Amino acid sequence: MITTVTLNPCIDKSVTIEGFTYGGMNRIIDSRIDPSGKGINVAIAYSQLGGQALCTGINYRVNGDLVEQRLDKAGIGHDFVTVNGEVRINHKVYDRSTQVVTELNESGHMVDEDALVRLKDKLMVHCRASDTLVLSGSVPRGVPTTIYRELLREMSALPIKTVLDAEGELFLHGLEGKPYIIKPNLFELETTLDIKVTSHQDIVNAAKVFLDKGVKIVGVSLGSQGAIIMDEHHGYYAPALKVDVKGTTGAGDSIIAGFCLAMKEGLNLKDMLRYGVAAATASITREGTLMCTREDFQKILPQVKVETLL
Ligand SMILES: Nc1ncnc2c1ncn2[C@@H]1O[C@H](COP(=O)(O)OP(=O)(O)OP(=O)(O)O)[C@@H](O)[C@H]1O
Ligand SMILES: [Mg+2]
Repeated sequence: MITTVTLNPCIDKSVTIEGFTYGGMNRIIDSRIDPSGKGINVAIAYSQLGGQALCTGINYRVNGDLVEQRLDKAGIGHDFVTVNGEVRINHKVYDRSTQVVTELNESGHMVDEDALVRLKDKLMVHCRASDTLVLSGSVPRGVPTTIYRELLREMSALPIKTVLDAEGELFLHGLEGKPYIIKPNLFELETTLDIKVTSHQDIVNAAKVFLDKGVKIVGVSLGSQGAIIMDEHHGYYAPALKVDVKGTTGAGDSIIAGFCLAMKEGLNLKDMLRYGVAAATASITREGTLMCTREDFQKILPQVKVETLL
């Protein structure tokens, strides 16, 4: 089983309008809500691929039930620390006439120290029953940027593989907790190391910096360019597949779900990359936040070609 941590769940509220009027009244012609969060997406993708996942993290008294209902519907177990406040809303305004999306994202309600202490206790229990722990996404106010480092250190005595996918300070501090796998995208790789990459060799060199810090596997996702995976001994590149892209939300979460599935099956690094790219590709061919299906994943898997980098 994998356990995923979502510290900053959200509700994506997507509304469609026809011709945006700045400063005026805009009539909504269609709307939908999708409870979400990176850890939640990884769990859904993993479970749809056939694995078993559990979601923990922080949830809120107001609208937290929407998040839990989504997981219930997907048959995924959950055990959040529930705090006062409401789940933040990310508004996505789609203007049908220009096909432009404008996003207005809330940052997440305050969380106090006590909730984090309770979370650490919960996590310890679930990690004892899991083979992989996924830490991903942003954090609400009140949560220090050292949180992933703290959680990684607390779990370091357990025989569990850890995955870290975060940005900025969260990622930088998280690295000090020596996660087993990291999955930066190109932007995260460049900003973390303060470099500009122009070739696969540059990415290989950058990945080595993380490996030297104690990370065991570095997966770098390159959006429409595919992905690279590296450990101490090997490096592989998989070009992206040319598919009809319907929604890239959750692409990064799906590649992680694919990596986790490959690990569960005891596969090697090369197959991990194939699994990750196949899962991500299967997700982007579905609309909005819909994640990969097992059927699409299996169909796509033989099409993923892998080149050896080292
Ligand atoms: N336009 C695309 N065409 C084909 N494959 C894609 C495309 N976008 C993403 N992918 C696939 O999805 C994987 C992950 O995408 P990406 O690098 O965009 O992740 P990310 O930036 O972490 O995304 P997220 O916003 O979910 O955090 C890529 O490695 C690639 O295999
Ligand atoms: Mg990402």
